[in-house]
Amino acid sequence: MCGICACIGNLNAVKYVLDGLKILEYRGYDSAGISYIENKELKTIKSVGEICNLEKKVKGIFSNVAIGHTRWATHGSVTEDNAHPHLSFNKGIAIVHNGIVENYKDLKDKLNNVKWHSQTDTEVFVNLVAEKEGDLLEKLINASKEISGSFAVALLDKDGNIVFGKRESPLYIAHINNGVMAVSDTYVLCDLAEDFYTLNDNEFAKINGNGIFFYDKNGKKIIKNKEKMQNFNKNNEIFEKTHMKSEILETKKVLIETFKNYKNELLFSSIKLPKKFEEIELIACGTAYHSALQGAEYFKKIGIPSHAYIASEFRYGNEILNKNALYIFVSQSGETADTIACAKMLKEKNMTCLALTNTPNSYLNKICENVLPTFAGKEIAVASTKAYSCQVFVLYLFSLYLSGKFKESEKEILDFLKNFPLLDINNGLVDKISNFEKIFFIGRGQDYITALEGSLKLKEITYINSFAIASGELKHGTLALIDKKSIVIAICTEEKIKEKLFSNIEEVKAREGSVLLISNFPSSFESLILPTFPTALMPIISIIPLQFLALHMCEKLGYNPDKPKNLAKSVTVE
Ligand code: M6R
Repeated sequence: MCGICACIGNLNAVKYVLDGLKILEYRGYDSAGISYIENKELKTIKSVGEICNLEKKVKGIFSNVAIGHTRWATHGSVTEDNAHPHLSFNKGIAIVHNGIVENYKDLKDKLNNVKWHSQTDTEVFVNLVAEKEGDLLEKLINASKEISGSFAVALLDKDGNIVFGKRESPLYIAHINNGVMAVSDTYVLCDLAEDFYTLNDNEFAKINGNGIFFYDKNGKKIIKNKEKMQNFNKNNEIFEKTHMKSEILETKKVLIETFKNYKNELLFSSIKLPKKFEEIELIACGTAYHSALQGAEYFKKIGIPSHAYIASEFRYGNEILNKNALYIFVSQSGETADTIACAKMLKEKNMTCLALTNTPNSYLNKICENVLPTFAGKEIAVASTKAYSCQVFVLYLFSLYLSGKFKESEKEILDFLKNFPLLDINNGLVDKISNFEKIFFIGRGQDYITALEGSLKLKEITYINSFAIASGELKHGTLALIDKKSIVIAICTEEKIKEKLFSNIEEVKAREGSVLLISNFPSSFESLILPTFPTALMPIISIIPLQFLALHMCEKLGYNPDKPKNLAKSVTVE
């Protein structure tokens, strides 16, 4: 969360930073700001809300050095005072920060002569830097020794020096035409640079007209290797009014693209499995956790013990590690802090790790020795849609590969892709569902997982309180909530649990609850009928109408589905 961007060179750095922030806006859009040098003075401009507000304020400004920030609020509400960059007490240093200074209260107490202008942890950081001895880099290195927590920071002083430091939060630096740029995400650099450097934890850097210089935590110069920029495959070819709509509509295309890349099984055969391969554990957050759950179902079906874990729980839990397990980290961005922390922890313990990500160059890819990419193209809307479908699909393909049934399933998969239905939900149904006070999603087995994902989509972009429950659990408590103000969206794609689910629906109806069934099985209930494909592939079909439902309800309420309040696309703090 939060995006930072810095630029120096024979160019208008303010423009480059602003353009970079626009690309990084998915990391937070509470406020934005830029610091730059003009007439030998350090100047700062900030604004609350989206980058376009800042853009109006910086129009016409030229400077060959600038740093900028787009904020997802952690400490302090959404105000201009709390927006970055923050200045040191003597106004000589500006900072932009992605991360959390966990001990900021203690540090604030120590810096008792400072007059504070914000409630942020970042203002504490810059003042700690300002009171240290030495040049800007030495000051930063010394200050960072006292910081607990995470940071990717860029600091600009009034003499035009820019320095960086990193611990946990991402930071990438690259030469661009006529200058140097540093950013939170290689997205920004894709069209500007052919290669880049990744700043590792506890490394520091400075950039100036002569180039990029790297230092370790003791200030000793280090040499780093460049990495080749890998680009996204160009799948973003549908341009609807919102990214979310375009991205749902791109699902079929990106599934086809994904299969093209896996068809020859090379990506699977290059995976280094543990010597004595016993189980698969999947770790992820949010929507990616739901695909991890589907993945665990696929692996269990072929006889491999498997579990899915929420990364923030796994990280501090008491899970027993198994040297013979393959640990799969599922993440669209490859930048999610909790998922990364788990991967690092397991790597340190010599476990076999695999990153399943949609983002070339991502930090998660670097940590894990194995990578399975999804080929969903850039996903910009905060609500994950096409990336989820590709994650589930790749996990399914991997289960086929492990069971030795990949080749024999090819025809079936090609047929699925050729006839993949992007099932929308009609206005009448959307209007009907909108009238209910309480919205529940139910299912069993794989459909319960789809219910979880459908409910998350709805909450995320409509702010309507809904939740998902395994339908067999209804009568163990939740049924008490069902009345005529409730609608239950039931998903059913598995023959073996069909009758059980239908009985649960009857129980809802008996309490005057309304029901919409999403299923490929005929019934007497009001239904949205799905076409029938192999059962394991049905979750990739049944999630689509739920994604559309969330989207249409969001549109009806007049919200922007791409930038839901309080959220950001990449969750880079824990
Ligand atoms: O980039 P990741 O897949 O690691 O992100 C994990 C979650 O933050 C993400 O899936 C989140 O739940 C989405 N906004 C859901 O639509």
